[in-house]
Amino acid sequence: MELALEKTMIQNEPSCWHAVRSRFPGAEEGPYLDLSGRSLLFEDGRTALNAHLDALSVGLVDKGALFEAVESTRALFADLIRCEPDEICFTRNVTDGIAAFGTSIEWKRGDTVVICEALEHPANVYPWFGISRKFGIDVRSVASDRGALSLEKIIDAIDSTTRVVAVSAVSFAPGFTFPVAELGAECRRRGVLLLVDAAQAIGVANIDARQWKADAIVASTQKGLMALYGLGFMFVRQEVAETLKPAYLSRFGVDQEGHEAHLGNPSSDAYAPGARRFDVGNYNYPGIVTVAPAIRMLLELGQEQVESYVFGLAREFANRILDLGLPVFGGRPGSHSSQIVTVGSDLGSEHDSTGDHDMLSLYEHLSANRVRLSIRRNLLRFSFHIYNNESDIDTAVAFVAQWIERHGSDARALTRT
Ligand SMILES: Cc1ncc(COP(=O)(O)O)c(C=O)c1O
Repeated sequence: MELALEKTMIQNEPSCWHAVRSRFPGAEEGPYLDLSGRSLLFEDGRTALNAHLDALSVGLVDKGALFEAVESTRALFADLIRCEPDEICFTRNVTDGIAAFGTSIEWKRGDTVVICEALEHPANVYPWFGISRKFGIDVRSVASDRGALSLEKIIDAIDSTTRVVAVSAVSFAPGFTFPVAELGAECRRRGVLLLVDAAQAIGVANIDARQWKADAIVASTQKGLMALYGLGFMFVRQEVAETLKPAYLSRFGVDQEGHEAHLGNPSSDAYAPGARRFDVGNYNYPGIVTVAPAIRMLLELGQEQVESYVFGLAREFANRILDLGLPVFGGRPGSHSSQIVTVGSDLGSEHDSTGDHDMLSLYEHLSANRVRLSIRRNLLRFSFHIYNNESDIDTAVAFVAQWIERHGSDARALTRT
């Protein structure tokens, strides 16, 4: 599909971002600051999905064209994180990718996996405990460092039993960026596999799989990739993939040319090269055709430009919230920052709602005025993407200021923290 964004517009200038925004009808419905929950759907993705559904409705599905879409989308995703298409497979979601990778390792009893249970999303916790129950390995959890994953604590926790370290590149709350490349270098040096949960980073942060020295990267398509739930990608580094035996063996996971219904020699067929061995049965075609135009747009925009624009919006928002006297978790923007800004100072355990009366009052005021955001871990979470602009910041900040003015005493309680 041809993207109508002119090549010449793809620069880090307002007209380009204006053109991008115009392709997200939902962007004009009030500031949409909830990428971390899910993105607005990219119009071109929806058009591609409609065409796919139309073809299904009238019985005109071209299976060959669907397989071509699978391969071109695999290649697009590989370009996005700068690796080879053979290093990419399709998954259902982040949990699925982590479980597929983890269960393909030949574990020995007593092996360990290092994670930070306090900060990781359940998607990067449960699968490891599942693997622990099944294979008798230990999950070693390091403590959080005031809301940050501690590089030092993770490295200290690695010993001769450690096979895998699993971290998120950007946490879902408080939304801090983790220095993945520094951990990657240490893991590679010590022969430990590094899995990165890129659910919050994909499509926003400028990711380079080689520079991260990651062995596996998992992501899904409903956030930074601006598409649907139920589809994910997994990168597995070629040399590592060749050593893994996926829990499922499937027609698409073996090295066989020819029709999908052709049965080769299931007892001895070689695995498909690299991460392709993790592909299972027919693909999520609706998800794949929907995400392709969004990845194409991100590649045209350039990941450096995207990161710089989106992180820039979040930085400005954080500074303006701080200037109003409200606490931003982590303080002034710095190297820990991302596209996520969390407001509050108590990292708790509540999601979607909060027992903190003032926080809830501010959340309700913003929601009633069509500012879309979420509550995670007791913090108000605002998150930005390429469809946002300065006017979203102005509008959201104005409603926060209005709430402070109207709720003098409540606001003072919140700003005191
Ligand atoms: C860091 C992180 N990992 C994983 C997920 C989701 O995992 P899954 O795709 O398995 O539902 C999210 C949010 O939805 C997340 O923020």
